[in-house]
Amino acid sequence: MQTVVITGGTGLIGKALTDTLLKAGHTVIVLTRHPEKHTTSEKLRYAAWDPAAGTIDEMAIRSATAVLHLAGAGVADQRWTAKRKQEIRESRVKGGALICKAVAAIPNNIKVVVAASAIGWYGPDPVVPNPAPFQETAPAHDDFLGSTCQAWEESMAPITEMGKRLVILRTGIVLAKEGGALAEFIKPLKLGFATILSSGKQMISWIHLQDLVRLYIYAMETSSWQGVFNAVAPTPVNNRKLVLTLAKELRGNSFLPVHVPGILLKLVMGEMSIEVLKSTTVSSSKLGEANFQFAFPTIEAALTALIKES
Ligand SMILES: NC(=O)c1ccc[n+]([C@@H]2O[C@H](COP(=O)([O-])OP(=O)(O)OC[C@H]3O[C@@H](n4cnc5c(N)ncnc54)[C@H](OP(=O)(O)O)[C@@H]3O)[C@@H](O)[C@H]2O)c1
Repeated sequence: MQTVVITGGTGLIGKALTDTLLKAGHTVIVLTRHPEKHTTSEKLRYAAWDPAAGTIDEMAIRSATAVLHLAGAGVADQRWTAKRKQEIRESRVKGGALICKAVAAIPNNIKVVVAASAIGWYGPDPVVPNPAPFQETAPAHDDFLGSTCQAWEESMAPITEMGKRLVILRTGIVLAKEGGALAEFIKPLKLGFATILSSGKQMISWIHLQDLVRLYIYAMETSSWQGVFNAVAPTPVNNRKLVLTLAKELRGNSFLPVHVPGILLKLVMGEMSIEVLKSTTVSSSKLGEANFQFAFPTIEAALTALIKES
C-alpha cells in the first residue's frame, strides 16, 4: 500500500481519485490551501501548502511514496483577463516548482510523481482534410494554453533529474456527473434546448472521469511508465455528436437543436471562447500500446453510464 500525496485533491478529479485510492486501501494526504475546511480521518489527511507563498507541509513529503500533482486555478472558471491568465499559469508553474523543491530538500521515499497537463498543449487541428490526431511528440502550440502547458510540464522536469519516475497526463475534456464540461452541456437541455456551438464540427477529445482516475492509478503503479501520455478516450467526437447523443440520452426525442453562433460565444465568453470553438483531435494510441484498457471507450458508453449514475 502507498501513501499518496495529492495536490488539487479537493477538485473534481482529485476527489474522485482520493475516493478510489482510499477504497483500494492506500493512505491519502491532500495538499490544499485550506486544510481547515476539511475533516481528517484515519487514512485521509488534509495538509497545508500554498504555491503562491512557497510553503508546504514537510511531513506530507516525508511520509509520501507517490505524488499526484493536479492543482491549478480553473481554466474555464472565469473570463480570461490578464490577471486571471497570470493566475492560471502561475498556480501551475509555482505549484510544480514547489513540489520539486520540497522533494529535493526533504528526505522522502517518493518513487513516482504523476502530474496533470492538458491537451491545450496542442492548439487547434491543422486546417487540412482529415488531419492526423495529435501524438505526444507534437510541439506545444504558440498560444496562451500551449505555452502554459509547456511551462507547467517543464516545472516538473527536476523530478526526472532526481532519478524519480515522472508521468505526465495530457488530459482531454473530462466528462463527469459531478460537474465540469458535462454540467455545462446539460444546463440548456434542462430547458429542452440542445445547444450546438458554432458549426458543431469542432472535435472534442474527451475522457470519462472514472477512466482518468484509473489512468492516474495505473500510471502510479506501472513501473515501466515514464514521460508524457495523452489522457483521452480512443474516439474523439465533434460537438454536434456529443450534444445530440447527450440530448437523446437525457430527453429521448423531446428536444430542440439550436445553433449558437461563434460570434455570440466570443462576445459572452471573450478569449476563453477559443476553448469551445477550437477543434482538437488527440490520439490515445500510446495508451493502447501500453495496454491501458478503457472502461468507456465510446461517447455512447460514457454518456449512458454518466446519465444513469446522476
Ligand atoms: N476537468 C477537466 O476537464 C480537465 C481537463 C484537462 C486538464 N485538467 C487539469 O487537471 C487538474 C485537475 O482538474 P480539476 O477539474 O479536478 O480541477 P478543479 O476541480 O478546478 O480543482 C483544482 C484544484 O486546484 C486547487 N487550486 C485552485 N486554484 C488554485 C491556485 N490559484 N493555486 C493553487 N491551487 C489552486 C484547488 O485546491 P485547494 O483550493 O484545495 O487548494 C482545487 O481543488 C487541473 O490542473 C486541470 O487543469 C482538467
